[in-house]
Amino acid sequence: MAREKWASKIGFMLAAMGSAVGLGNIWRFSYVAGENGGGAFLILYLIFVLLIGIPVLLAEFSIGRQGQGDVVGAYQNLAPKKPWFVAGFMGITSAFLILGFYSVVAGWSLYYLWNYINGTFWSLPEGGYEATFGSLISNNYTPLFWHALFMVFTILVVLTGVKKGIEKANKIFMPALAIMLIGLALFSVTLDGAEKGLTFLFKPDWSILNDPTVYLAALGQAFFSLSLGMGSMMTYGSYLSKDESLPSATVGIGIMDSVFAIVAGVAIFPAVYAFGISPSSGPSLVFITLPGIFSEMPVGNIVGLVFFLLLSIAALSSAISILEVPVAYFLRKFNWSRGFASAFTGSIMFVIGIIVSLGMGMWAGVTPIGDKNIMDSISFVASDLLLPLGGLVIALFVGWYWTKEQAFEATDMHSNAIRNIWLGMVKYVAPIFIIIIFLQSAGVLGWLIP
Ligand code: PFF
Repeated sequence: MAREKWASKIGFMLAAMGSAVGLGNIWRFSYVAGENGGGAFLILYLIFVLLIGIPVLLAEFSIGRQGQGDVVGAYQNLAPKKPWFVAGFMGITSAFLILGFYSVVAGWSLYYLWNYINGTFWSLPEGGYEATFGSLISNNYTPLFWHALFMVFTILVVLTGVKKGIEKANKIFMPALAIMLIGLALFSVTLDGAEKGLTFLFKPDWSILNDPTVYLAALGQAFFSLSLGMGSMMTYGSYLSKDESLPSATVGIGIMDSVFAIVAGVAIFPAVYAFGISPSSGPSLVFITLPGIFSEMPVGNIVGLVFFLLLSIAALSSAISILEVPVAYFLRKFNWSRGFASAFTGSIMFVIGIIVSLGMGMWAGVTPIGDKNIMDSISFVASDLLLPLGGLVIALFVGWYWTKEQAFEATDMHSNAIRNIWLGMVKYVAPIFIIIIFLQSAGVLGWLIP
């Protein structure tokens, strides 16, 4: 069966941007920044995006395009009989884990959308938004319905295939979400007490850097937000024809993705302080803050409705890039139809999501790792460990397995200075940073932190 192709470079760009921009920029960025002290975390995150994220993203796209395969097949095509493809299975594992919880959170967004459609959230619900959210996620059944609905949407898009399904969806919705977020940010900074939120986000309190867990949190967030290290971008790169140029697309995606996160932060943190919410509220942060903002706004009901619609669509365009990773593998490996592969894979992820969701309901006391509940534990393993590990393999493959000429040819960069800098980042900077951060989080490098 011939592999699919993007219809155009812009189609590829939009799909890759759609993958990058999602719940990670708004929901995950805000709560992880909130838990890790704000300003200093933001700077660390941006440094990691620039030094590791963008160079490795270009490497990941290049492996996909040169390898012309899914996350396992691309490595096998490029390095037959070598063990590099094992990283592909790691990516497939991350895809199951990440979409498992991603779909649950996207389900919450759909639930909010529904409550803005039916009017329940037009006025402050009894007990306030915080209590309402708490009772949603601790309910054993309601979140599962919305999680199922979101998974069905994701499966439907993926089973219609790359061109028809994935490529078109983002053209209108992404700019709309951008405009909406900018509008929210402008409104948020007028709230009483907004300066405190802006200070939290932009004035670094460096003492947080003494906490060894901050580095891994920032690294994981950079990878998660850029959809990096799992194979989504590799798979998307494999549908791109060889005569399109990659470097400018990569830089564009990296910058846009970070801008989305920062603007989301400007929308959220002033409101967090204005409404007296704790910045370290964890995954509930945006779900209790945003409705508060809408309730203060003129025509906030409509704004809320449109916002959760756009957020759900942004989540969908990311979710399809996650589902596509195992689907592309199964299609080739077992010769399954796209329909069956999508439905089968999505169903297993749905089951993982049930476990995640019940981890906030009847299994709320279950803490597989430290004091982390099921969702936080899965997110930690998949986003903070597996994604950077996948990125490390990508960097080592392009930097050390490929020759310099192969690497340059794969990215088709022509400026000598720029391509040498890029290769230096991929060959040395990214691997060294990732390894140091891993060792240091494991407590092996106690000396780095006084
Ligand atoms: N980047 C997406 C977001 O920010 O919501 C989530 C994501 C997509 C993570 C694809 C990982 C991935 F491979």
